[in-house]
Amino acid sequence: MTEVLAVGKPDQMSREALAGLGWTACATLDEARALPEDTRKGVKAIAFFGHSPFGGEAMDAFPALGLIANFGVGYDAIDVSEASPRNIKVTNTPDVLNDDVADLAVAMLLDFCRDTRGAEAHVRSGAWGEQGAYPLQRKVSGAKTGILGLGRIGREIADRLAAFKMEMHYHSRSEKETPGWTYHADPVALAREVDFLIVALVGGPETAGYVTREVLEALGPDGILINISRGTTVDEAALLDLLEQKKIGGAGLDVFLNEPKIDPRFRTLDNAVLQPHQASATRETRTAMGQLQRDNIAAFLKGEALLTPVN
Ligand code: 8YV
Repeated sequence: MTEVLAVGKPDQMSREALAGLGWTACATLDEARALPEDTRKGVKAIAFFGHSPFGGEAMDAFPALGLIANFGVGYDAIDVSEASPRNIKVTNTPDVLNDDVADLAVAMLLDFCRDTRGAEAHVRSGAWGEQGAYPLQRKVSGAKTGILGLGRIGREIADRLAAFKMEMHYHSRSEKETPGWTYHADPVALAREVDFLIVALVGGPETAGYVTREVLEALGPDGILINISRGTTVDEAALLDLLEQKKIGGAGLDVFLNEPKIDPRFRTLDNAVLQPHQASATRETRTAMGQLQRDNIAAFLKGEALLTPVN
């Protein structure tokens, strides 16, 4: 009998790691819910991949379920308020991905400001030799940066950008011990103050639409928004309008609403760097995330303390 179900679409590293474990794998929750009753009754833990909503009704399909081990630090897809009363624990994969996510935030900012993609095309096409130098771009070091959400990942981004000699500003639930960095109680005031605004909020209902049209307008026609959190944290309709109308300077986005079938309006923007939600997608980090997910499951099955519980 299978005690563990893998639900979702694991990446290459996890697929390799799961191959020998004998777990039942389902590509979607609907597929898992359609398993024979006998199989569903035996399931004690679910290794969950992806970002499809996992609500109470789906949990009820697995009467012996005691753990949902999420592959990712953000567990906003899992309704924890439905899990807890059912005595279902939820775990996530914090910390092991902080560096990668921070690296991609910085990469998108550098890429946007220095236009490395356009400049490379200039070399490859032969235009450099035929037409001469590429147009001048925008300086990154020394600018004013605002971090929205100074949690573990926000802090890693801030530390990197501080090393770029930037003046650091932030907005967070509370003021932190950050000598020399300026705290703003109001996200609009933060956006008004800075050149670059980096969104590193947690996902979920509390932060839905936190980056409002007003915040984006305050960032202004030279301001650049970077988002590595969740598509839900930004008013996406406002972001698209303002990018199209050039009322904000640009954006670097790793996350969107309705991934991977994102709003097609994004695809035609010439003032945005777009990434396929891949901030944690290095072989090293995905290996560590998968290991932590499996360690949580192993601990749970042995009745030991969970490594990274969220409820
Ligand atoms: C995804 C993420 O989990 O950790 C998170 O919250 O968003 C990512 O690391 C990863 O893309 C797998 O879906």
